[in-house]
Amino acid sequence: MPANAQRLNSPADEREVFLQDMLTALSGRPKQTSPKYFYDEVGSRLFDRICELPEYYPTRTERRILEQHGAEMARVLGPRVMLVEPGSGSSTKVPLILKHLREPAAYVPMEICLEHMVANLGPLEAAFPQLEILPVAADFTRPFSLPTPRLRARRRVVFFPGSTLGNFTPEEARQLLRTLRRVVGHGGAVLLGVDLQKPSEVLIPAYDDAQGVTAAFNLNLLERANRELGADFNIGNFSHRAVWNADAGRIEMHLVSRCPQAVHLAGETFHFATDEAIITEYSHKYTQPALQSLAAETGFALHRTWEDEKGWFSLQYWVAVD
Ligand code: AVI
Repeated sequence: MPANAQRLNSPADEREVFLQDMLTALSGRPKQTSPKYFYDEVGSRLFDRICELPEYYPTRTERRILEQHGAEMARVLGPRVMLVEPGSGSSTKVPLILKHLREPAAYVPMEICLEHMVANLGPLEAAFPQLEILPVAADFTRPFSLPTPRLRARRRVVFFPGSTLGNFTPEEARQLLRTLRRVVGHGGAVLLGVDLQKPSEVLIPAYDDAQGVTAAFNLNLLERANRELGADFNIGNFSHRAVWNADAGRIEMHLVSRCPQAVHLAGETFHFATDEAIITEYSHKYTQPALQSLAAETGFALHRTWEDEKGWFSLQYWVAVD
């Protein structure tokens, strides 16, 4: 672990929290797990592959918006910004902003999986040798504090691209945004990448690709539970399914039991009927009016938006209101 990295949770705590969450998830009706557990090392690598898939439009589309408008975004953010990125993954998008920022105070990538984050910081360090990078290993859905950079920051901005906000329930999204509002403080802001509503003919293949990478990503959750928690999921007895829930405005990822079966975890037995699903992920797709309300409800005002020509994806700059 590099000297300037901060680890807020120990691996033993993380395993215990994963176990308790899985036990609760499998006892529920419906059975439902948190998407944050997709991202062990294998899952993080599979997610990087999803982002390259022809069907998975969000990453490409967002990237193009950042390429086209990054300079303008940096002007709007202003000088001496401390840029915080929850769920930073491989930190591949942030250079499109960083390269235009005037005297950035620091970059703070945040990830649960410290190893994946640190292993991917090399290119960023090489591209921005003057930049102070302060990695934080933490679950950003729980309260967290930020390190203090050497340069005094004029403004804290949370960069939250990739439509990760869409993976939270509406109530969780509100809670998270309120946490971010507290973290950025007076004069702070968030720059959010959000996926917008579009026809299900585009959405479904994006979450059920022809090469089966998304299926492998989804099923890895069960493999991870076997590896780390000693569960006995028979992976071949489950299949991946992506569903567009129009009423809720979201894609849902399910793992569907192919037969009646029992799974054991930590001395408990969980029964599955044929076709019974574990809901493993929501991916909400927003409308502009819904985003405007969300900003107002969480202590922000929508200041600027940037979109692609099809109106599929939006970068939103929300400023904190006092
Ligand atoms: C990380 N998150 C925004 C992705 C999404 O599109 O909801 C996760 C993902 N799940 C399946 N494909 C990608």
